[in-house]
Amino acid sequence: PLKQRLLVVANRLPVSAVRRGEDSWSLEISAGGLVSALLGVKEFEAKWIGWAGVNVPDEIGQNALSKALAEKRCIPVFLDEEIVHQYYNGYCNNILWPLFHYLGLPQEDRLATTRSFQSQFDAYKKANQMFADVVNEHYEEGDVVWCHDYHLMFLPKCLKEYNIKMKVGWFLHTPFPSSEIHRTLPSRSELLRSVLAADLVGFHTYDYARHFVSACTRILGLEGTPEGVEDQGKLTRVAAFPIGIDSERFIRALEVPKVQDHIKELKERFSGRKVMLGVDRLDMIKGIPQKILAFEKFLEENPSWHDKVVLLQIAVPTRTDVPEYQKLTSQVHEIVGRINGRFGTLTAVPIHHLDRSLDFHALCALYAVTDVALVTSLRDGMNLVSYEFVACQDSKKGVLILSEFAGAAQSLGAGAILVNPWNITEVASSIGYALNMPPEEREKRHHHNFMHVTTHTAQDWAETFVSELNDTIVEAQLRM
Ligand code: UDP
Ligand code: G6P
Repeated sequence: PLKQRLLVVANRLPVSAVRRGEDSWSLEISAGGLVSALLGVKEFEAKWIGWAGVNVPDEIGQNALSKALAEKRCIPVFLDEEIVHQYYNGYCNNILWPLFHYLGLPQEDRLATTRSFQSQFDAYKKANQMFADVVNEHYEEGDVVWCHDYHLMFLPKCLKEYNIKMKVGWFLHTPFPSSEIHRTLPSRSELLRSVLAADLVGFHTYDYARHFVSACTRILGLEGTPEGVEDQGKLTRVAAFPIGIDSERFIRALEVPKVQDHIKELKERFSGRKVMLGVDRLDMIKGIPQKILAFEKFLEENPSWHDKVVLLQIAVPTRTDVPEYQKLTSQVHEIVGRINGRFGTLTAVPIHHLDRSLDFHALCALYAVTDVALVTSLRDGMNLVSYEFVACQDSKKGVLILSEFAGAAQSLGAGAILVNPWNITEVASSIGYALNMPPEEREKRHHHNFMHVTTHTAQDWAETFVSELNDTIVEAQLRM
């Protein structure tokens, strides 16, 4: 049987490019949940369209990069420095990202952001149009065009303007906030209308879908139905499609000799101590300072644990040109330094903080040796790190402490210990509870989560979304 052809459009390509010479490039796997999940989607004939993460001003460089990317079935959209500054650093990551995660803007930047809003929004629309141009160039009849995330809310409209027959889906990888939050965006209506041009709009959870529908009814005055949003007889289908991971890939990785060696090393290195793990992009939504403060409180209250537990925090650098992220980096370093100074000894420190990414195998080994994973997101669309940890824990059966504000709390809530990350007293006592949990309870909780993670995969997610998109279009034709 022929596989469904897919054009996946996302700001971030699965590989980011690093220039090695005038016409030579090397490609590295990009970080983040969107890329991880989409890499787990296999049963489609998919091509990716997106940004390779670098500015390539010259034609020689562009041609060479296009060629290198073509081998990975990727097609680049070239964004110049100014556009990246205004669209990616500005509108996407300084305005939409904090807003969708209920974080608001930092006091001192509020006015500056308000002033630059219009020019950043113009750049956002321009960038979306550039993505649309590339899609249009590569589109063939019968393709499903699947647009991803908050960077590309304008894309469905641009695509339908090119070709009303194009099958267009849009999926948001972040939360969609309450309509009361969305209302504050100057561009609130334009964004909603452009998304509604898609045939199918998807979210991780039912709550996010509901927020989107009420934003459309309250702000645009449209009609919300159980199916979606209706505008003068035209229905945009809106539904929840919780994402998953390629769990098999993680389970298989644990059998690789290199990973097993690594596991052995880690076990020796931390023998006699319980290992707690955090893996996050160094992003303000992840609640990293809150997590570390809760760990400090735990140490403060439990002197007997001082040299018996270690927190490994992997903080992958991200969006480093955005000032808020720079501030967060120094804030986290300061807290870690203070706590290590306070509780460290000549031979051991309680927190190992790494400002870098890990390769896949090293990450799997870490997940496997962990006793307690700590996910303290202040808000998070889904949080795949929690899924990956569970997938790697079938022999250890460690404990997951999970923020109730992560989408994953809705799927792993019964197996995890749910916490409010703002309440460090609660998180500190959950750490104690997790470290002391009897094996029977750990096993029961793990089993629950493991069943979920291995039966709700990224492949299932993509299949459900695409088949729903196809059905929606057939139904729309029947109604006409
Ligand atoms: N990850 C990565 N490099 C690392 C550490 C983690 O690419 O050094 C991956 C991790 O395996 C996970 C993703 O980044 O798949 C993070 O996804 P999540 O949904 O937890 O959060 P996001 O970064 O998308 O906000
Ligand atoms: C989140 C977003 C993705 C993004 C990723 C990494 O997962 O939902 O769209 O790709 O973070 O961020 P970056 O800005 O480096 O692409």
